[in-house]
Amino acid sequence: MKILMVCLGNICRSPLAEGIMRQKIENAGVKWQVDSAGTGGYHLGSQPHKSSQKIALVHGIDISNQKARLFTKNDLLNFDKIYVMDGANYEDVKKMSGEDWDHQKVEFLLNEVTPGKNANVPDPYFGGEDGFENVFNMINEACDFIVHRYGKVNNPINNNDKTSLG
Ligand code: 4NP
Repeated sequence: MKILMVCLGNICRSPLAEGIMRQKIENAGVKWQVDSAGTGGYHLGSQPHKSSQKIALVHGIDISNQKARLFTKNDLLNFDKIYVMDGANYEDVKKMSGEDWDHQKVEFLLNEVTPGKNANVPDPYFGGEDGFENVFNMINEACDFIVHRYGKVNNPINNNDKTSLG
């Protein structure tokens, strides 16, 4: 399975989501691909926000090598699942996807925890460090749900090596 995490700037929330998910799938021995992107081009090529890097490191996750990039239409074709952090991201992804839009692929990240609620991972960019810890915890819980839900060896959409062995 190929997962794309999407937020606005690709420097605060989605890099955390990418790093957290990478750590979880590594721990679970699941061979998924994970990436992240932003719907706005304000910070293209930048490292994740220092507060995202800091809270990730507290949990043993190094996200310093990530670089912000823009979401593209191709992402919608290339990825199996696209998780957005909030409603604005959802609408932006829809607009940017044009005729390739596929509502089955795009989901609010927190709908994995509270299905159908369309709850937002709040943007911590204009707040203090507490916001980043809060965001880390929300994303962490959602990623746990995803790994438990789709990471089973014989789950049909988990196209990792173990599945291909039957
Ligand atoms: P993110 O946070 O979408 O979680 O990466 C933001 C980062 C930058 C901006 C907005 C949100 N900005 O306006 O530059």
